[in-house]
Amino acid sequence: MHFRSIRFKLTLWYVLLLGILLFSFSSFLYFTLSKSLYRDVDNKLSSLAKLIASESVSPLSKFGFGNIDQALETSMNLKPIGKFIQVFDESGKIGGKSDNLKNLQLPISLNALKNASKGLVTFETNRSFENTPLRIITHPVLENNHVTKIIQIASSLEEVEEALNTLFIILVIAVPLALMVASLGGQFLAHKALKPVDHITQTARMITSQNLNQRILPPKVQDEISRLTETFNEMISRLDQSFRQIKQFSSDASHELKTPLTILKGEIEVMLRKDRTPQEYQQTLKSNLEEINRMSQIIEDLLILSKTDTGEIRLNKEDISLTGILNEVVAQMERLAKSQRLHLSTSNHHQDIRIFGDALRIRELFINLIENGIKYTEEGGSIHIALEKENELSVENQPDRIKREKGNFAKIVVSDTGIGIAKEDREKIFDRFFRVDKARSREQGGSGLGLSICKWIVEAHQGEIKVESDLGKGSSFIVILPLSSPHNIELKSAF
Ligand SMILES: Nc1ncnc2c1ncn2[C@@H]1O[C@H](COP(=O)(O)OP(=O)(O)OP(=O)(O)O)[C@@H](O)[C@H]1O
Ligand SMILES: [Mg+2]
Repeated sequence: MHFRSIRFKLTLWYVLLLGILLFSFSSFLYFTLSKSLYRDVDNKLSSLAKLIASESVSPLSKFGFGNIDQALETSMNLKPIGKFIQVFDESGKIGGKSDNLKNLQLPISLNALKNASKGLVTFETNRSFENTPLRIITHPVLENNHVTKIIQIASSLEEVEEALNTLFIILVIAVPLALMVASLGGQFLAHKALKPVDHITQTARMITSQNLNQRILPPKVQDEISRLTETFNEMISRLDQSFRQIKQFSSDASHELKTPLTILKGEIEVMLRKDRTPQEYQQTLKSNLEEINRMSQIIEDLLILSKTDTGEIRLNKEDISLTGILNEVVAQMERLAKSQRLHLSTSNHHQDIRIFGDALRIRELFINLIENGIKYTEEGGSIHIALEKENELSVENQPDRIKREKGNFAKIVVSDTGIGIAKEDREKIFDRFFRVDKARSREQGGSGLGLSICKWIVEAHQGEIKVESDLGKGSSFIVILPLSSPHNIELKSAF
């Protein structure tokens, strides 16, 4: 097991906590038991001493000095087993003692003597008596406030100490043994709990950009691990989608750039085959320039889009007049529309609609939408641009998100009487490089990036763009942008 592994740490914590718990419990058990056993010995000594003391002063008692065993048996019918008894008379001499003392004598300390002379009882432990640990009570007998006898009773502590020693040995062996078993159990539990994590690690390690369609198998039970697996799988899905998009994007981009390059190459090769007239050279160079312009436009658009992806483009937002920009763009596009025999018109019921935005980008948005209208409308058709305020819209026309925010919004509708867009293509037209009819779009110099840029511009202004279309009859591009109000400015800076 690796020392830095969670498994090791979990087991260590588990064993450490259990160790502290077992140690505290064992100490508590040992000390309480030892206290209770010693107290029990003292209580027994004390009650026996009191009994003998009261008997010895009773007038009817036959208790006297000499053989204490006999005296106790005849006067009290008492046969104390395992107790050494010794009685001092008034002169301080041993007046009597139990048989089991033989010719020995119970030790009496100076302290016990002093206490006895004051009428106080003393408990002492003595370990110097015949290698036997003894608990001794020294109990004075008082008659008329005068110490007449001192009774000493001793009990061996051998049994108590033996019991405590056995308990100590059991605990010293059992606690480490329990900890060892616990550590094995802990390791097993940690291993079992962390096994799914190992599984996730192994699968995650196998997933590269080449097999992002692989997923981690979620566990059957709903727990933390299943949530982790779900999160991982969601992340892999997002990565998978991004990778696909990137792959698609780069293949589309290279294809887009390859076409004008092939045309350029072909034209130049044909020209170089033999000598040409200056007019022929001029014509070819003109066509070459068209292709070069086309490539620079694609590269410029791609650059903008890649910068929007990395968030490198900073918008220069300020209070701008949407009406002003629209009028400028329309005036500029009028010539192009006329050349295609198209009618370009606007309707604007407001003097001035202002938004908080980037003038350059908004211009680009208008140009792209009007240019599309011109490109995809047959000769004789018309393009109309309407500018309105949101409070004039019917509720059903408002996009959901904007309805929720309840602000004031500008609505720009660019409609044409052109070829229209099929239902299945309406969502896709905002994707990069998507064109309904590649040949037609290319003929008109399109690369399918215009609407992607429009979408980005609108969203960077916290707006929305959508399309409504009738195939063969025409299309309407609807853009909703927040108006310039203190509320909206605040909203934007929060984004
Ligand atoms: N007004 C419209 N009417 C019909 N189809 C449209 C209209 N606007 C866009 N489309 C379709 O959506 C596609 C994508 O439009 P987009 O503006 O992104 O690209 P493009 O016009 O082909 O090229 P670019 O704008 O990059 O020069 C177009 O190729 C076209 O098929
Ligand atoms: Mg376009």
